[in-house]
Amino acid sequence: MSEVKLEYDGQTYSFPIVVGTENEKAIDISKLRASTGLVTLDNGYVNTGSCQSKITFLNGEQGILRYRGYSIEELCEKSSFVEVMYLLINGELPTETQLSTFRTDLRGGDNLSNDVRKFYSLYPKDAHPMGIVSATLSTLSTFHQDLTPGNLSADQKSKVMSLLLGYMKSICAYAYRSNTGKAFVDANPDLNYVEDFLSLMFADDKGQYEVDPEIAQAIDLLLILHADHEQNCSASTVRLVGSSQANLFATISAGVDALWGQLHGGANQAVIEMLEEIQKDGGGYKKFLDKAKDKNDPFRIMGFGHRVYKNFDPRAKIIKKACDSVLSKLGVNDPALEIAKGLEEAALTDDYFVERKLYPNVDFYSGIIYRAIGIPTNMFTVMFALGRLPGWISQWKEMIEDPTSRIGRPRQIYMGETARAYTPIGQR
Ligand code: CMC
Repeated sequence: MSEVKLEYDGQTYSFPIVVGTENEKAIDISKLRASTGLVTLDNGYVNTGSCQSKITFLNGEQGILRYRGYSIEELCEKSSFVEVMYLLINGELPTETQLSTFRTDLRGGDNLSNDVRKFYSLYPKDAHPMGIVSATLSTLSTFHQDLTPGNLSADQKSKVMSLLLGYMKSICAYAYRSNTGKAFVDANPDLNYVEDFLSLMFADDKGQYEVDPEIAQAIDLLLILHADHEQNCSASTVRLVGSSQANLFATISAGVDALWGQLHGGANQAVIEMLEEIQKDGGGYKKFLDKAKDKNDPFRIMGFGHRVYKNFDPRAKIIKKACDSVLSKLGVNDPALEIAKGLEEAALTDDYFVERKLYPNVDFYSGIIYRAIGIPTNMFTVMFALGRLPGWISQWKEMIEDPTSRIGRPRQIYMGETARAYTPIGQR
């Protein structure tokens, strides 16, 4: 069947079915309003496809995640974050020459200018680093005012995407350094992307930092796992803001803001805070599971549940395994890991969680690795943003290069007052 029939008001209308390469099916309702006068209503866009995309495939029932056709498991095992960045943005794995050129282009964003660095001194010392990262990206839009889609040739676009990826290492690391009162250090061209990020964050005031390969490898893995996740809240925000042809840096700043909330990327911080609370409370899970199930209590088990995954989140599986190995390699014994495992086991045998198909998501175990590496809790979501940047950029690029894409502008069903006459203030 290649079309769907809708009967409404005595008439029959046909709408085409669009079939994706993985046999996902959608009704194309782009002509619905013009032909029937109706719009769709879909709170939270649960059933709404906002675009056709070739970047990431996700099957929530089977727990499948692939970037450009490559499984997340294989990429984690064999690839690197820099290679994955290239793959997401360009659609193919790079040749040696392409990868080498890409690495050189990334170095173009090694150091933020002194003018941009000055802004960091103005934030309150207790500012959340996600606010600082978002503000810095917005600030950069004032230094790069010509970055609107219409102004960029293909070559300029490619250079500016690399520039932004390069800048992001410092943007994130300096949010931490300014919060902790540490002087900024420059990028180190002898280090690779992930090592350089760690150095920008943890080097002493003279720029000295000894790379621990275990730590660099663990961060590389986490960044790959976070690199894209199709039309989630922040990627959709990037597409929506970018669809008005806003400046690229401003568009990405909006993505960071969307990621910050605890129902999205902010969950990784919320998970550790929850595990600490459970530990302080004596380590029992029942009270917390009961709270999560109580409809009069806003508390939820953070790091659990997903809009799309209804079986397991493949990213959580990989991270849980990495958690054990990273902690043992680093010789860290974190009681939060045992609490998390116990909480997971208790939830997965509880009818409430089983019926609703609630499983640990990417944020459930990632914070335990970040913590073992010495990354402070309020920086966890910044780590997510560093990883997600290539995904946002790829989504933006795909959208602006698609000749059929239009400004994002949903409809609504108005439920407010109908027309009424203005009452002067003394008569109300
Ligand atoms: N703890 C307790 N109950 C939950 C949870 C949870 N973590 N998640 C969902 N539920 C319940 C929810 O109350 C609802 O129950 P009922 O049908 O009785 O009303 C049902 O499960 C469906 O939940 P929903 O809120 O309608 O589902 P959603 O698709 O709108 O929300 C979610 C998805 C991820 C926001 C939600 O599961 C949640 O709040 N999880 C905790 C926050 C979290 O871990 N977020 C990170 C998501 S993964 C990383 C990323 O990509 O951002």
